[in-house]
Amino acid sequence: MSITEESASAFMAPDRPAFPPGFLWGTATSAYQVEGAVGQDGRGESIWDRFCATPGHIADGSSGVVACDHYNRWADDIELMRSLALGAYRFSIAWPRVMPTGVGEVNQSGLDFYDRLVDGLLAAGIQPFPTLYHWDLPQALEDRGGWPSRLIPEAFADYAEIVVARLGDRITRWGTINEPFVVANHGYLTGEHAPGRSSLADSLAASHHVLLAHGLALERIRAMSPAADVGITLNFTPAFRTSEAPAAVDRFQVSDDLENWWYVNPIAGLGYPVRTTARLAWDQAEVHADDLAIISQPIDYLGVNFYTRKLIGAVEGERHAAGPETAMGWEVHAESLGWLLRTLHARYAMKRYYITENGAAMPDTVRRDGRIADDDRIGYLRAHLGEIQACIADGVPIDGYFAWSLLDNFEWAHGYKYGFGIVEVEQPTLARIPKDSAYWYAAVARSGRLDAGDDR
Ligand code: FCB
Repeated sequence: MSITEESASAFMAPDRPAFPPGFLWGTATSAYQVEGAVGQDGRGESIWDRFCATPGHIADGSSGVVACDHYNRWADDIELMRSLALGAYRFSIAWPRVMPTGVGEVNQSGLDFYDRLVDGLLAAGIQPFPTLYHWDLPQALEDRGGWPSRLIPEAFADYAEIVVARLGDRITRWGTINEPFVVANHGYLTGEHAPGRSSLADSLAASHHVLLAHGLALERIRAMSPAADVGITLNFTPAFRTSEAPAAVDRFQVSDDLENWWYVNPIAGLGYPVRTTARLAWDQAEVHADDLAIISQPIDYLGVNFYTRKLIGAVEGERHAAGPETAMGWEVHAESLGWLLRTLHARYAMKRYYITENGAAMPDTVRRDGRIADDDRIGYLRAHLGEIQACIADGVPIDGYFAWSLLDNFEWAHGYKYGFGIVEVEQPTLARIPKDSAYWYAAVARSGRLDAGDDR
């Protein structure tokens, strides 16, 4: 029996407990990936606008100029979420919409959009869960040095304050930053994401400044909205070593530390992983006296993004025999999510966790009775939710789950080639067409039971 079949049969058991009452069932998106409307109502340029405009950066030559046009279709999208019984929506706020050059002048029309969105969500009974930064830095701030510069965390705290002043009376849960690892690594080391720079020194400086930005914003949000929950979303790709060779041990350590523990460790008050700071000869000149205290102020929750695991051997790019894969070639390995959540809780004992992103790009080519029969995505969601349910039963305080994504959207350097949505966005009409996984997920959300999805 395959791993997925084994987990699936466990969920079908009639005595399978329901998820706890109050568990949040949501979906997630991010501003640049869904909003479009990049030139509307005074929005400033972001690093992704500039990056996409350079040929060769995006696989299909596309951009977020139109994306899902969520900026104009938000009311329909809320209605869609309501019809799918979703109780929460994790979205991000575009800094360049609120502050076109990142500092100084505030664009009220930009804030008005999020104001409408939040009111609309609340009226539909959907809890808004905004993230303040999901990678769309104002280009003007990149021109002033970008994340390797200490100017950015300070500007970010001011921006956070402006957003909270406008929305804080209605928001009970804030996220500061999405996936600091990807900001620092893909943006400033590998260059595969905006702004497309490639320097280890810049990447390490960026990694620290992103965390500092989180800490400074956390202080401001707490001061203005003491009752709100504030946290950060980190991505984790549990890494496993496939060889004892010294080169494998070394590659594993650097990769595992940078991707998995580099951010959570300082947040938990444990500083940057020592072996790897030494291995990379990082002198930490950017880390000023109080920074680690600012970064390690208690958070109310840790947001966990999980998609796949990583097997690491001695050679870069080596292929390992592994389980089933998504359309992007990411191995489907739900047990690694269970391992991750138990490990995080054993090591760091955070107050609570949300799974802020989890999902899969699948081919979406099978049609049945005119429907998009994405049984593979349903299998993925079911297996991962099963792991979460088992972790909750073991005492890991997990309070909600956000499927990535509500909509097929702009998948960064891959453009529109891969769809993670439980809802298809038809081209070129942009019509929203729920896939079978959306109906499956709605049944689960409505009942709090995984087997309800299959019985629907
Ligand atoms: C995560 C990102 C999200 C999306 C998914 C597939 O790393 O946070 O925007 O691209 O991957």
